[in-house]
Formats: sequence, C-alpha cells, structure tokens
Amino acid sequence: MLHKNIAINKEGHLTFAGQDVVSLAEKYGTPLMLLDEDRIRENIRVYKKAMTECFGEGSFPLFASKALCFKGIYRIAKEEGIGVDAVSVGELYTAEAAGFDLSKAYFHGNNKTDADIAFGVSHGVGTFVVDNTDELLALEKHLSEVGKRQRVLLRISPGIDPHTFKAVVTGSVDSKFGSPIATGQAEEITRLALSLKNIDLVGFHCHIGSQIFDHEPFTEAADIMLHFIALIRAKTGFVPTELNLGGGLGVRYIESHPHIDYAEVIGEMAAIIKLRAAEIGIDLPKIVLEPGRSLVADAGMTLYTVGSIKSITGYKNYVSIDGGMPDNPRYALYESPYTLYLASRANAEANFPCSVVGRCCESGDIIQEGVTLPKPVRGEILAVAVTGAYNYSMASNYNRIPRPAIVLLKGGKDSLAVRRESNEDMIKNEV
Ligand code: LLP
Repeated sequence: MLHKNIAINKEGHLTFAGQDVVSLAEKYGTPLMLLDEDRIRENIRVYKKAMTECFGEGSFPLFASKALCFKGIYRIAKEEGIGVDAVSVGELYTAEAAGFDLSKAYFHGNNKTDADIAFGVSHGVGTFVVDNTDELLALEKHLSEVGKRQRVLLRISPGIDPHTFKAVVTGSVDSKFGSPIATGQAEEITRLALSLKNIDLVGFHCHIGSQIFDHEPFTEAADIMLHFIALIRAKTGFVPTELNLGGGLGVRYIESHPHIDYAEVIGEMAAIIKLRAAEIGIDLPKIVLEPGRSLVADAGMTLYTVGSIKSITGYKNYVSIDGGMPDNPRYALYESPYTLYLASRANAEANFPCSVVGRCCESGDIIQEGVTLPKPVRGEILAVAVTGAYNYSMASNYNRIPRPAIVLLKGGKDSLAVRRESNEDMIKNEV
C-alpha cells in the first residue's frame, strides 16, 4: 500500500488508521475527510527528534498551518509542543480559539495589513516574519504607538528555483515574497531593521518551494543564506541567532513517488549545512523548519460516494463522485496526482479505466484523470488517499456545495472534529 496506515480488511473494505472506511462513510456521510491523528503526531515527533539530534537543542519544527487549519490541529501542535506558522489573522484566531499560545506562532504573509499587524502584536504573536520594507515600517510605527517591541525574522529570497536550482540560481529573485539577496534589497532591509528601535531582529527566513523530494535545494538555499549571514556580520556586526529554512519537503502521493525518510533527509541537510557554516566561518544559528504537507498529507483520506458512471462511446469513462473541486481543488489547479481506491471492494480487479470527476458545473472539476479502478456501482465508496494537506484548507463553497466534515481517527476510535457545513451555514452572513 501507498502508506502504512492504508490496508484492506477481510470484508475487502479499505481501512485507514486501522478502521473500516466504508463503515465510517455510513456513520458520518460523504464527502468525508478522515484524519489519522496518530500519524500526525508520529510525523511531528520524527521532525522534532531529528531536528534536535541533527541541529542541536533549540532547533525545532513549526507546523505550517496553511496546509490544514482547524482548531483540532492547533490542539495537537500544542500537545506535541511545537510552534506554528500562521499566514493570516484567521489562522491566528483559530489557533488562539484552540488554546494555542500565540507566543509560539510565527506570523507570515507578504501583505500584512495594519489591522493584521495590530492583531498580531496585541495577541502576543511570538515572531513576525517581515516580508518587506513597507511592512517593517508599518510594524515599527504600530509598535511605537503601543509601546512594545517585537521579535522579528526577515524573509529573504535566496534566488533558488528548487526544480532547476543548479542552472538558474537567480530563478526566483522575481517573486512576490521576501527581499532578494541578489538585488541588494535583503541587505537594505536588514540595515533598516537594525536601525529601528522597536524591532528585535533575531534572524532570517527563506522558503524555496513545496513538494521537494531531496535535501539538495534546501542545502543550496542554506548555503546562500549562510553566505548572506557572513556578509551581514562583516558589514554590520549583526549575528543572527535563528535561521528558518521554511517548509517544502515532499510527500508520496502515488506509487511512483519515492518513500521519504524525513529523519534521514534532515540528517543529510544538517551534515552539509554544518560543514558549510564551518567553512564560511560562522556559528550555526538555531535552525527552524516549517513543514506543512509532510506533517499532515499522509494522515488524510477523503471518502466519496460514487454517483453516475458514464461511458462516452469512443472516448472515455467518467465516474462522478459527490465531492470534487470544492473539497479538493488540487487537480484543477496543479494537476496533482492522487491514488484512488474503490473502498467498498478494494480487492476487486482494477480493469475500468476512467476519469473521476466532481459534481460542479465545470469541466475542470476533476479529481483524477486516467485511473484504473474496479468498475464502481452507484452508491459504492471511493477513497482518495493523501489528502491531509491543502485540501480542507483550500476548500470552497463553489456551486454552493458545503464543506465536508472532518473525523479524527485516534487509537482505533473515531470522533467528529469539524461538522459538515450546512446550507444554513453558507447563507449565514447574507443580509
Ligand atoms: N513556509 C512558508 C513560508 C510557506 O509558504 C509554505 C507553503 C510552507 C512553509 C509549507 O510548505 P510545505 O511543507 O507544505 O510544502 N497549495 C499548494 C501548496 C502551497 C504551499 C505554500 N507555502 C498545494 O496544494 O500544493
């Protein structure tokens, strides 16, 4: 199976986290998002352990909560003792509502409004990751008005394209995020931050991309950041104590993707980064990583009920399900690959090539094209694996379709974590 939390039981039903998903679909209805809480905790522990072992005490992971945002996930982060990366007041608010201490939150975003800044400061956000000069000045102005100081990292653009990073080192200088090193703007914003009396600059942040399978783009980015740190030290005397290398480690969505041992990748990263720091002649700051996908993706599975099955003579077969782009826009947006199972008869021979499509009035409403499944029958349950990241958090009400419920699976038990949205919920703000 794709991941160790997916199996088939003696009834021939798919199981997830040891539980029969057909029974769960019956109990809670579909579309349904299942989350394997034990798996999330295990993923967090792997990162935590590897980071302290490889980078030393004080280095730690944050959960990038844009990947999956609801109160339950912040409770888990709190219990596991990790910080979170939040990118909006909405995420901070959800974290706080879950009892998460915002002093352990890192506030991201390339365009924090004055209201966002005021919210973050008044709610005690631990660290602002400041994207640009305008934001830095707005933050300083607000801090001086309220008489506070704020811990800050500056978002720097190292100019790495993770897919072609060797050939095109300046590939992503042109980005809406951060201040590029290559243009001198990273140095400029650092000098400005150091001159502002309410800004407590502790270090730098970079994020190079997502769904990256090996350590090389990260070590390449770290190398550039370490050179930048050396340059800043030489020019200003400032020695950062924290370097946040962002998120981005990949996840196995389909059989042809590699299995990734995150502890091993972090170990490889650490070995090279420590070596580079020694060569450059700087003390390695505390390292922070911000995984989103790799903490939650494989802990998610979406269940749907099969509706119409249609064969367009001479073309192809369509299997329609009772969800689609509103709960999973990732194929429509990125043609993201997924593994699908006919959960009701998971052992049956897969001999029916088809496209699995949603119920929206839009041709692009596709979950996956060109899959081969056992020929489904209306009413059977279809499962899409590895949907824990960027599915629920990117869900919409397109076509006025309510968002699915979330059910947490833990130690063989299931519990409702987010109720299914109702039609009433969808019109509640309409006057
Ligand atoms: N830190 C920063 C500053 C980020 O922008 C992101 C993701 C992360 C951390 C977490 O990256 P991860 O470990 O999850 O790769 N909607 C897209 C993914 C967008 C990622 C945005 N930033 C998708 O569905 O694939």
